[in-house]
Amino acid sequence: MGEKPTYYITTPIYYVNAEPHLGHAYTTVVADCMRRYHVLRGEDTFFLTGTDEHGDKIVKAAKEAGLSSPKEYADRISEKFRSILPLLGCEPDRFIRTTDPDHVRTVQHVLKLVYDAGDIEFKEYEGLYCFGCERFYMERELVDGNCPDHHTPPVRLKEKNYFFKMSRYQEWLIDHIKQHPEFITPERYRNEVLSFLKEPLDDLCISRPKERLTWGIELPFDTGFVTYVWFDALINYLTGLGYPDSPNFKRYWPSAHHIIAKDILKPHAIYWPTMLKAMGVEPYKGLHVHGYWKMRETKMSKSLGNVVSPGVLVDVFGQDPVRYCMLREMAFGLDASFSPDAFFTRINADLANDLGNLVSRVLQMVNKYLDGLVPERHDPTGPEGELKHAILNSVEKWDSHMAAFEPHRAYQALWEVLNLANKVIVKREPWALQKDPQKRPILESVLYTLLETLRISAILVYPAMPTTASRLLEALGLDVQGELSLESARQFGRLVPGTKTSKVAALFPRLDRTKVEKALAASSSGEKGVKKEDGKKDAPKKKGETGVPGLISIEDFQKVELRVAEIVRVEDIPKADKLYKLTILAPEERTIVAGVKGEFSKEDLQGKKVIIVANLRPVKLRGVKSHGMMLVAKGEKGLRLLTVEGDIEPGAKVS
Ligand code: ME8
Ligand code: MG
Repeated sequence: MGEKPTYYITTPIYYVNAEPHLGHAYTTVVADCMRRYHVLRGEDTFFLTGTDEHGDKIVKAAKEAGLSSPKEYADRISEKFRSILPLLGCEPDRFIRTTDPDHVRTVQHVLKLVYDAGDIEFKEYEGLYCFGCERFYMERELVDGNCPDHHTPPVRLKEKNYFFKMSRYQEWLIDHIKQHPEFITPERYRNEVLSFLKEPLDDLCISRPKERLTWGIELPFDTGFVTYVWFDALINYLTGLGYPDSPNFKRYWPSAHHIIAKDILKPHAIYWPTMLKAMGVEPYKGLHVHGYWKMRETKMSKSLGNVVSPGVLVDVFGQDPVRYCMLREMAFGLDASFSPDAFFTRINADLANDLGNLVSRVLQMVNKYLDGLVPERHDPTGPEGELKHAILNSVEKWDSHMAAFEPHRAYQALWEVLNLANKVIVKREPWALQKDPQKRPILESVLYTLLETLRISAILVYPAMPTTASRLLEALGLDVQGELSLESARQFGRLVPGTKTSKVAALFPRLDRTKVEKALAASSSGEKGVKKEDGKKDAPKKKGETGVPGLISIEDFQKVELRVAEIVRVEDIPKADKLYKLTILAPEERTIVAGVKGEFSKEDLQGKKVIIVANLRPVKLRGVKSHGMMLVAKGEKGLRLLTVEGDIEPGAKVS
C-alpha cells in the first residue's frame, strides 16, 4: 500500500495587540473543519495556527497596557488565543508563536539564504512615512495629504533599509497563477491579484533600523537591523513543519493550504509565493480567502472595538451550534453580518428541529417497535428508496462542495436530505405500519433506511460538529473512530442487523429567546463581553436599547425613514467607476449617489421605483452631494434592486 495522501492547513497567525473575536474564531473553525474533512478522506493531516508577536503595534499595545516588556504582553494575549481553541473544539497540531526559538532560527536561515542568492538589497529610500502605521505611503494613497488611517500628515523620511527584490519574480508569479486556477480561490480574489500584478511590483522593505524598532528578529547579516512584519510572519508556515530539515516539512509542504480573510490577500498572494520562489521552495497549493464578519455594516475589528467574543457565543449557544452557525451563515468568500438573531433562528430550525427531532424520533421508534435493535436489511422502495438515493447523492455533493471550500453549500445539501427524511416519516407513518404484522417488512425497511441516513449524516456532520457526530454514532451502537470516513459514508447498508441502539437525550435543546437575549445582554456589560462600537464600557442603557449586539428596538428602527423613490435620471460621475448620480423623486426632486455602477446599467435603473433611506445626513461623494441612500439586496448572484410591486406614488412611506 502506498503512503497516505497528506493535507496541511493553516490559519493566519493573529496579532497579539488585542483579544480574539468572532473573525479569528471563524478562520480557525474553518481550518479545523477542513482538517476534519480531510481526515474523513483518509488523509494524513497537519493543522497549524498561532500568534504574530513582533513589531511596533505590539510594543505600543504593551505600553498602553502598562507593561514594560512586549514579551510579557505577548505571553498574556497569545494565551487568550490559545485558550479559545478548546472552547471552539479546534485541535491544531501546533500552536506557533513568532517568539518561539525555532521560528527565530528559521527566519534567520531564510534571510541568509535569500541574501546569499542576491535577492536582498541595501538601499536608501526616501518617502512619506506614517509613524502610526509604521510604513511608507505613496503619494496617491494619501487622502487630502494625510494618512488614510490616522488622518495625520506623513513625515518625509530618508532611511537605509534592506529590500527584497520581489519584482524579479513577478512574471513567474503571473504565469504560475494563470496556470494553476486552484492557486487562489474563490476566483474573485484570483482576479483581484492578477489585476494588481498588471502594475510593476515595488521591492519589499523587510527591515527596520534598531534605533526605531528592536522588538523583532535580528538580520543575520546586519545586527543594526531587525526584520519587519511580513518576512517574519509568513515564514511561520514553514517553521510549523520544521523547515528545512524535518521529515514533516517534506511530508506536508507539498499539500499546503492557507486560509485567510481578504485583508491580508496581498502579502499571501504576492509576497509569500515570491519569497518561496527566492528560497527555492515550491509554492503552496492553495490560498483560500474569505470575507469579513461585520457588525452593523462595519468590519468587526479589534481597533474599532465592535467585536463579539467567541467565549460569549459558545456560552450562549454551545460549541457545536456556534461552529455550525459560523460555517453556515457566512458564504465563504463573501462578507456576512453577525446577528445573534440569525444564529438563534438557525439553531432552532436546523439543529433542534431538522436534525435533533429526526434523531430522537427515529431512535424512539426503533426502541419502541424493534426493541432498540437494527432491523433486517431490505432493498428500500417508495419514499425510503428515494431517501436512500438522496443521501448517497448528497455525500457526493457534500464532498465536492467541501473540496471547493464551500462548507456553507456542503451543509445546505445535507440539510435538504434531513428534511426529506422527516417527510418520509410523515408519509410512511411507522406508527401505523407497526400495527399490521403484514407490513413488518415495510416498517423495517423504512426504519433501516432512516438509521442509515442518520449514520451517513453523522459522518458528514463531523467536520462541523464533531461532538454531535460522536454522540450520534455512539447512539447507533457504532465504534466512532472506525466509522468516521468518507468511504463508509458512501456505503449504504453498513449497519449490522441486531445491533443495539440507544436513545439520546435531546442533541440540541431548543433555545429560549428571552434566555439568549438575557445571557448576551449580561455578558455585554461584563469584561469579556461584547464591546460597544466606541470600544468603551457600556453606558447605562437608554430607552429602546436592547443590549443585544445586532438587535435593535422598534424605536431604533423608527428613526430610519424609508420611502419609495422614482429614478428619473441616471448619470455618470467623472472618474468614479462604481458610482452613479441618480436624480429621484421622493416626492421632491433630490440627488443621491449610488455605488452600483458595476452591477446595473443605466437602463436597469431608469424609471424604476426603488426604496431609499430618506433621512440620512447628506454626504459628498466624488464631489456630488448625496441626499439619501438607495437600498439593494446583496445575494450570491450579485445585487438586486428593491422595487415596489403595483402602482404607487413616489414619496410613499415604507413601514
Ligand atoms: O493580519 N472577519 O493578524 P490579524 C473575518 N498577523 N475574519 C477576520 C476578521 C473579520 N472581521 N477580523 C480578523 C494579521 N479576521 C497578521 C497575519 S499571517 C502570516 C500574519 C481574521 O490579527 C482573518 O483570518 O489582523 C484575518 O485574515 C485575520 O484574522 C487577521 O488577523
Ligand atoms: Mg488585522
